[in-house]
Amino acid sequence: MKYNVAIIGAGPGGYVAAIRMAQLKMTVVLIEERDLGGVCLNRGCIPTKALYSATKLIERAESASTMGISFAAPSVDLPALATWKEGVVSRLVSGVATLLKANKATVISARGTIASHGRIDLSTGDTVEAERIVVATGSFPVEIPGFNFDNPRVWSSDDALALTEVPDRLLVIGGGVIGLEIATIYNRLGSKVTILEMMAEILPGIDLDRRTIATLKRSLKEQGITIRTDTAATSLEETKSGAVIHTKTGDMFPADRVLLAVGRRPNSRGIGLEKVGIEPDRRGFIEVDEDLQTSVPGMYAIGDIVPGPMLAHRASNDALVLAVYLATGKHSGRDRVIPQAIFTDPEVSSVGLSEARAKKEGIEVIVGRFPYAALGKALGMNEAGGFFQVVAEANSHRLIGAQIIGADASSLIAEASVAVQNNLPLEAIADSVHAHPTLPEGMKEAAEAALGRAIHAVNR
Ligand code: NAI
Repeated sequence: MKYNVAIIGAGPGGYVAAIRMAQLKMTVVLIEERDLGGVCLNRGCIPTKALYSATKLIERAESASTMGISFAAPSVDLPALATWKEGVVSRLVSGVATLLKANKATVISARGTIASHGRIDLSTGDTVEAERIVVATGSFPVEIPGFNFDNPRVWSSDDALALTEVPDRLLVIGGGVIGLEIATIYNRLGSKVTILEMMAEILPGIDLDRRTIATLKRSLKEQGITIRTDTAATSLEETKSGAVIHTKTGDMFPADRVLLAVGRRPNSRGIGLEKVGIEPDRRGFIEVDEDLQTSVPGMYAIGDIVPGPMLAHRASNDALVLAVYLATGKHSGRDRVIPQAIFTDPEVSSVGLSEARAKKEGIEVIVGRFPYAALGKALGMNEAGGFFQVVAEANSHRLIGAQIIGADASSLIAEASVAVQNNLPLEAIADSVHAHPTLPEGMKEAAEAALGRAIHAVNR
């Protein structure tokens, strides 16, 4: 049988594409060599968030004493925690399998390699034929000289999430998203965590305002996490009592385990791209046009393998946009705004432009800020740290960006995402009634503050 579409890779790009394409009456085959759900479900977003929420209990139990409730020191049963986390993952993975089946998408468990235009060879010896091919093979963690994942001392995020041990001293190389999220989890579990970041600031790849970064750094330090910026790790030396990590600055850091979180690269090698004449760029990314078509007609690419933020929801959006294009020829939203959510303590989220970036682009802006400490709900939750910030065009009041640092920031950014995506003005948020007492009131008050009329903060 010749399918309408063959998709290689069943992560949040590939499996979402398969479901939506099948809904749109295309015949679809999804080829995956490991588990459905890709890195995100199996070894990324989902296990991290499961461990984030589980270990949050440790931190909540410790801080509860300020509310007059005290607990004994928590005891963590690591294998039980790992089993629970695996249960969350497998429930979602089997949910994806059910959805694919219900939508009549064919799933093949094998490694797929592009053989020619419209043909994919499978590791099982079979061949799949399709009118179009979608490459959704995702990305892998990179190594740097002196550190490789074959060394048991060196952890990838996969190793850290496997939860085999809680090292006394965990050294994290890379103050990006993965480094910070895993540092947060292991710090709560009891490791002494040090983060080395070679750039001048943590999260250098993300458009966050200085105030947001400063607030995050302060909080990480208060939790006992050491952060060293301008510090590039260069080599690892084994010693009698563990390892010592040397840096470009000449410093030495002792460690029992080293988490290497220095970025990810696209999985574009060994999948037969050269057979059809697709040439990835120097870093391995595949360029696509606004309809996600590569330089070769009939060949498409979505998700981490395409330049842009390496985020699950970006991949899923690519998938939805591509499905609509293939079914109807309509261009439908490659340029949608992509929010970012970082699961540190406190959480950080953002969408659109930061204040600094907007100014750099020459946009005249008005900015509104509102602290969690002025929200009754946040105080009642004993989560008073952080703030909401909105950035709007001065003339039109159109919201062009927002950042939140504080409790549940990852969820609270959704309202701003809707506003930025739909060109809504500050008034759309400020003049909508938000239930009281809730955290989203912070977004309304920030919009009011930008308009110079916050109620629960002094307007400046
Ligand atoms: P990243 O690119 O976000 O951060 C890597 C960091 O390592 C950079 O800040 C870089 O300057 C630093 N670095 C590189 N070499 C170094 C050295 N020798 N010594 C010290 N520091 C060094 O990459 P990360 O954290 O591995 O994440 C990979 C991708 O996955 C990112 O695109 C990220 O956005 C995405 N991701 C997003 C999540 C979220 O949004 N919640 C969660 C996990 C991953």
